[in-house]
Amino acid sequence: MMGRFLSHWGIATRLLVIAVLPASIMFVSVTATLSGLAQRDVRRDVAARGQLVATALAQSSQYGLVSGNTAYLRTTLRHMLEADPSIACIAIADAVARPVVSDCQVSKPTEVESFEVPIRIESLPQVDQFEPVPTPSGEGAWRTVGSVRVTMSPAPIFESKRRALLVAFALVLAAAVVSCLIGLRLARRLRDILGSVMSALRDIRQGRFDVQLATDHEGELGELQRTIVQMASTLDASRHDLEQQVAKRTQQLQEAVDLARQADADKRRLIVRSNALVEEERRRIALDIHDHLGAALISVRLEASALVARARACGDAEMQGDAARIAAAAQSIYATTRDIVKRLRPEVIDTLGLAGAVEELVRHADQVHPAARFTFQVDPGFPDVRGELAMPAYRVAQEALNNIAKHSDATLTTVTLSVLPETGHLRMVIQDNGRGFDTRSPRSTGIGLIGMRERVAAVGGELLVSSTPGQGTTVCVTLPLPAGQ
Ligand SMILES: Nc1ncnc2c1ncn2[C@@H]1O[C@H](COP(=O)(O)OP(=O)(O)OP(=O)(O)O)[C@@H](O)[C@H]1O
Ligand SMILES: [Mg+2]
Repeated sequence: MMGRFLSHWGIATRLLVIAVLPASIMFVSVTATLSGLAQRDVRRDVAARGQLVATALAQSSQYGLVSGNTAYLRTTLRHMLEADPSIACIAIADAVARPVVSDCQVSKPTEVESFEVPIRIESLPQVDQFEPVPTPSGEGAWRTVGSVRVTMSPAPIFESKRRALLVAFALVLAAAVVSCLIGLRLARRLRDILGSVMSALRDIRQGRFDVQLATDHEGELGELQRTIVQMASTLDASRHDLEQQVAKRTQQLQEAVDLARQADADKRRLIVRSNALVEEERRRIALDIHDHLGAALISVRLEASALVARARACGDAEMQGDAARIAAAAQSIYATTRDIVKRLRPEVIDTLGLAGAVEELVRHADQVHPAARFTFQVDPGFPDVRGELAMPAYRVAQEALNNIAKHSDATLTTVTLSVLPETGHLRMVIQDNGRGFDTRSPRSTGIGLIGMRERVAAVGGELLVSSTPGQGTTVCVTLPLPAGQ
């Protein structure tokens, strides 16, 4: 409790208490002791004096009392009262305690103490001239003829000692004040030094190491000041070193990042270029297949058809059947080559644009896989995208639909084309309700998904494949459209 209370005190308050408290305690305890000792001494003195005065009076007033010389007694009492102001009252009484004489000081003190001594007189022994009878002690017997009562008051002595006490208190007070002032001065000096040390430490905490701290003191305080200055300069040097290392490392990292960016840009250019080359090569192969193989197959089919006619005319049913099968096979191969040509070079992109070409892909998939439904949706305001930008999106759709057919067992697939209103980017979403897969560890070593991602990244787009086993797969492609599209 006390510890928590003290913990809120600042240095200045603590130093103030250290400076003032001991002097105050010293003042209070010394004055209390002095005053207690003085009172005890005075009381003891007054008691001794009272006893003495009463005894002396009892002895000196024996014969005045016996002889009835009250004038003498009164004068004696007056002299005594005048001689000692601490005697408040003196009273002499006879043997039966009847007051004989009494006298008091004019003022009436409140605190008094009385001392009573009997007045005794020695009876002379009876002397028989002829036959002396000695008393057992050899002396006469004592009889009490009265008593003296002395009432003492310490007040006058207190009064006389008061001035000395006040002087002593003043001296103690002066000593306490001087001690306080010296303590306060030392405390203020200490507070100033600690304040400058604190402010230097605050500077260091805030990262300012050029601390301005005087180091002109000796002893522990000087050591503290010098330690802080040295610590600041060591920290400054370490920070300088660290900054240099960070700057060097940052530069290295920047160079590495630049290199990686450069490599990434080169890779993208390479992918774009190789994709273009691949497309070009596909176009050439498609043309070759179309122009040479297609033409040859048409000619085979025409020849076989002519042979069918000739065999029918000759009535050669066997040859007619063979020729008809050759014609059908040629037709079938021709249809296959047309499919291959279409896949190799989707001219439909150039004729129908991206939306039409993707719709064609979806329609084809729907036809080829009667157990599953493939649907296509396009935003009404979807732009007419053709050429180089349309190709990556088209290839992604192609691969995604292939994957659905190969891996998903989906019963419903939806392909959606839209434009994002916020960015104006093209968005294509291909979603199936098939078995899905764990995208973090695809089981296959295929390169379809990798190819999709690279194609899209090469033209500054983004591809997101989200799938959970048992809950279908969603492929989402975002591609920047050129301005004006
Ligand atoms: N729609 C999907 N439904 C279920 N699994 C899928 C789907 N798409 C991809 N996968 C899973 O992801 C794996 C990787 O697909 P990716 O296209 O990269 O390779 P692949 O199709 O196996 O081979 P490649 O495409 O090279 O012929 C697939 O093997 C399959 O397990
Ligand atoms: Mg694949």
